[in-house]
Amino acid sequence: MITRRSFLGSAAAAGGLAASGVWTTVASADEPTPKPASAEPGTHTLPPLPYAYDALAPAISEGILRLHHDKHHAGYVKGLNAAELAFADARAKGDAAAIANIERALAFHGSGHINHTIYWENMKPGGAKEPTGPLADQIKADFGSIEGLKSQLLAASATVEGNGWGALVWSPMLKRLYTLAVLNHQNSYMVGAITLLITDVWEHAYYLDYQNRRGDYLSAWWGLVNWDDVAARFAAAR
Ligand SMILES: [Fe+2]
Repeated sequence: MITRRSFLGSAAAAGGLAASGVWTTVASADEPTPKPASAEPGTHTLPPLPYAYDALAPAISEGILRLHHDKHHAGYVKGLNAAELAFADARAKGDAAAIANIERALAFHGSGHINHTIYWENMKPGGAKEPTGPLADQIKADFGSIEGLKSQLLAASATVEGNGWGALVWSPMLKRLYTLAVLNHQNSYMVGAITLLITDVWEHAYYLDYQNRRGDYLSAWWGLVNWDDVAARFAAAR
């Protein structure tokens, strides 16, 4: 079970969650629990990329990063804000019939914003050395080796039908790492699982560079993984 204090300590050490713009963390364990970065509904903002637009080339080109971040990710932030404001409007009008559609928009755009934020932070120019310590131990226990994880995660990602994501998640309840093939931004997730590492396999993530060669994109993406960020997320999630 993740206690508030342990989460705060590990999250503060991780830094990445705070940098994500999705959550802010606090310096002291005596402070309240982590709170959403945007307290007012409809005021989420697009977090900047943690590197230059051309920093991931040639694996991911500047053109793709500009389009992907500035247009696609921005669109999900806009959609999330619209959904939050629509809830307030529906409540004010007593329009219960509108809620179902807003819920769908919230799940889609909210998940799109969160997934993209993690995706950017999961990468760094040139990648990082493969994990050591607790994350490496857990990968060995659940996948046999880092190569076992790579083959399973890339296979899951390559076989997502249509738009989606490949994810490495930690289940605090089941105490295991899993890979998931996520449809759209939110379907086929495991309840309660915490995303540690995620790759975008929507065509907008790779088609300009790789056309239909999704496997080549995934192989190049693997070389960009920031294992320090993944390890920090694991430490915060356990
Ligand atoms: Fe995307």
